[in-house]
Amino acid sequence: MLKKLFSREDIDNAVKKLASLIKRDFDDEKIIFVCLLKGSFMFTSDLVRCINNPSRVDFMRVSSYGNAMTSKGEILITKDLEENIEGENVLIVEDIIDSGLTLKYVSEVLRKRKPKALKICALLDKRARREVEMEADYVGLTIDDGFIVGYGIDFAEQYRNLPEIYIVEKD
Ligand code: IMP
Ligand code: MG
Repeated sequence: MLKKLFSREDIDNAVKKLASLIKRDFDDEKIIFVCLLKGSFMFTSDLVRCINNPSRVDFMRVSSYGNAMTSKGEILITKDLEENIEGENVLIVEDIIDSGLTLKYVSEVLRKRKPKALKICALLDKRARREVEMEADYVGLTIDDGFIVGYGIDFAEQYRNLPEIYIVEKD
């Protein structure tokens, strides 16, 4: 069963808040947005529309979760960036931070490519579930434990198309 956790209005407000913080930090500089597929596709498309800096959007896919609700604890790049990020302002855009393993891995990989700046923006943060030290520079909404779907985020590839954010509850 799905229970609504965040409405369209909650999400819009979070995106606008994030966009103004990012805009404040990056001023009018160029930004390369790195959308982590697939979960951040909707979030990225809303976020970039609120930031009018010169920008590029690129995509990366890493896998750590299979079709289960628990992490395999193993991360693989299954689609890498096409942009060269050396000397660029890079903003990683992620849907949810859970254990922190994915973002720790991705940020370490991207940092080796010598960007000018590397920041992390996450729509949702399950802070209590961290297994490694990992703080995003920008966090939209903080949540407790629980499995989230909607607004790009899936359970076994389902529910990405829902416009709001839901929590999966056991029947
Ligand atoms: P981490 O590596 O444990 O921080 O996991 C991050 C990734 O796991 C996110 O990018 C999501 O794709 C996925 N994930 C974590 N929590 C959830 C959830 O509640 N619902 C769906 N996917 C999740
Ligand atoms: Mg993800």
